[in-house]
Amino acid sequence: MSEMDRRRFLARGWKAAVALIAGAGAWTSWDALRPRLPAGFGAKIKTISADDVPEDAVVEIPQARAYLTKIDGRVVALSEVCSHLSCRVPFCESSGQFECPCHGSVFNRAGDFISGPAPRGMDMYATEIIDGIVEVNTDEFITGAPPGTETIIEPPRGPACTEGSGHA
Ligand code: FES
Repeated sequence: MSEMDRRRFLARGWKAAVALIAGAGAWTSWDALRPRLPAGFGAKIKTISADDVPEDAVVEIPQARAYLTKIDGRVVALSEVCSHLSCRVPFCESSGQFECPCHGSVFNRAGDFISGPAPRGMDMYATEIIDGIVEVNTDEFITGAPPGTETIIEPPRGPACTEGSGHA
């Protein structure tokens, strides 16, 4: 092997080694940093009996990142991800409304927008009742209704949980 060939061979070897190390580093970073979805997310998730879904409260289904409630006898699944900037929106038992702790958006039990910076009501997932059990399809996303939508008229039933949520 001539001196020139040897240099070219070594240069190629170095480039291949650097590319291999960069690739391994990139894969490791991606694997460590990529968002982790809860088990079963993106699929149909079996939840609870439709009979156990309340008419005047909500039930959280953590694996679907959703709340179940009944509106006019129909089961709905509301996404717990705020339609503003994606904070988790808890349900306030004392007011009977959803109150986002991040910027104060408020939604009623049906997910209708009440106040705050959110651009729309709470997003939802399609549901199906199979053999009496509610299945939430986390792959079928329904965009929240625009402000002004009044699916239900339920004024706050007591004090708010979050300061600045716009009601007593
Ligand atoms: S993220 Fe909920 S109001 Fe901003």
